[in-house]
Amino acid sequence: MVCPDTIETEDQLDEFLTRPGAPLVEFVKTIAGPLLILGAGGKMGPTLAVLAQRAASAAGKPLDVIAVSRFTDSKARKWLEDRNVKTTSCDLLQRSAIEKLPEAPSIIYLVGLKFGTAQNPGATWAMNTILPALVAERYPKSRIVALSTGNVYPFSDVKRGGSTEMDPLTPLGEYANAAVARERIFQFFSVNQQTPVALLRLFYAVELRYGVLVDIAQHVYHGSPIELTNGYFNCIWQGDANEMILRSLALVSSPPSVWNLCRPEVFSVRDVAARLGELFGRPPRFTGSEAPNALLGNSRPLCDRLGMPTVPLTTMLCWIANWIKQGGRDLNRPTHFEVRDGNY
Ligand SMILES: NC(=O)c1ccc[n+]([C@@H]2O[C@H](COP(=O)([O-])OP(=O)(O)OC[C@H]3O[C@@H](n4cnc5c(N)ncnc54)[C@H](OP(=O)(O)O)[C@@H]3O)[C@@H](O)[C@H]2O)c1
Repeated sequence: MVCPDTIETEDQLDEFLTRPGAPLVEFVKTIAGPLLILGAGGKMGPTLAVLAQRAASAAGKPLDVIAVSRFTDSKARKWLEDRNVKTTSCDLLQRSAIEKLPEAPSIIYLVGLKFGTAQNPGATWAMNTILPALVAERYPKSRIVALSTGNVYPFSDVKRGGSTEMDPLTPLGEYANAAVARERIFQFFSVNQQTPVALLRLFYAVELRYGVLVDIAQHVYHGSPIELTNGYFNCIWQGDANEMILRSLALVSSPPSVWNLCRPEVFSVRDVAARLGELFGRPPRFTGSEAPNALLGNSRPLCDRLGMPTVPLTTMLCWIANWIKQGGRDLNRPTHFEVRDGNY
C-alpha cells in the first residue's frame, strides 16, 4: 500500500483508512457472508466495516456486511449506510435482541468498555462476560474473530521485547481482569461447542483523531509535560489493524488461536515526543523517568503470518503533526497511556 504524503481532510483520512490492500482483496473472496461486525459503532468499527465492503467490491464478491451496535452515535450509523454497509441497532446484552440477529458464518467481535471501569466496574464485567457468552451461544458454528487487548498482560521488562502469547495473564486492575474474562469465556465456548475463534490482543490502534501518538503529540504541541514512567509502548495504524483483523478470519480454531496485534517495534515515549518536537518546532517537556518495565507485546507471530503492517511510525508522526497544526478534529478520547495502576 502506498502511503499519501499528507492527509489534510477527514474525507482523505477515511478514504485511506478504508482502502483495502491487495492481500485483503484476495482474502475477502473466501469470506462466507453475511459478515457481522458486533460493536461496530465505536472508534474502529465504522472504518473496519467499510474496509470489508470496499474489499468485497474490489474483488467482485457479493458480501453483505452488517454493522451491529446500539449506535449511541447516530452519525456513525448514517456514515456506514452512506457507504453501503447495512446496519442493525441492537443492545447485545439483551438475549432476546441477539436472537433476532441474522445467521452469520463470519463474525468480528469488537464490543468493549474500558474507561469508567473505576466508577462502574459492574458494567465492565457484564460487558466482558455476559455479552461474549450470549454471542458465543447464539453463534456456535460461526467463525469468530474476537478483539482482546494487550492489557491482559502484566508489565514486562522492556529489554525482553514484549509479552508473548504464551505468557501468564496476571494483569493489574479490574478492566484488565475483565478483559481476561472476555477471552476465557470465548475459550470456554470455543472448546465446548467447537466454535472456531481467533483472539486478537490489540495494543494501541492509531489514526489522526485519537490514539497514543495523538495524545503525545497534543502534549508536545501545547507544551504540557509528558509523564515518562510508562515510557514504552506498542501501536499500529488503525487501517493496518483492521486489515489484519479481517484476515484473521483465516486463523480461527478450536480451542482459539491467540495473537498479539501491533507493529513489531517497541516505541519510546521520549523518542516519539522528541521527533514530534522537531516537527512542531518546539521541544517536549517531560516529568519522571522511565521504569524498566511497561505494558508491551511481541507481535512477531502475527506479522510473520499475515505480513508487516504497512504504515511506519515516521509516517504516522508526520501525518499527526500536520493534522494537529491545521486544527484537525480530535475525538477527545484520551488513551491515558501514562496509567500504571490499572485504574481506568
Ligand atoms: N482502539 C484501540 O486502540 C484498542 C486498543 C486495544 C484493544 N481494543 C479493543 O478493540 C475493540 C474495538 O475497539 P474500539 O476502540 O472500536 O472500541 P470502542 O470505541 O469502545 O467501540 C466498541 C463499541 O461497542 C459498542 N457496544 C458497547 N456495548 C454494546 C452493547 N451492549 N450492544 C451493542 N454494542 C455495544 C459501542 O457502540 P454503541 O454505543 O454504538 O453500542 C462501542 O462504541 C474493543 O473490544 C477494544 O477492547 C481497542
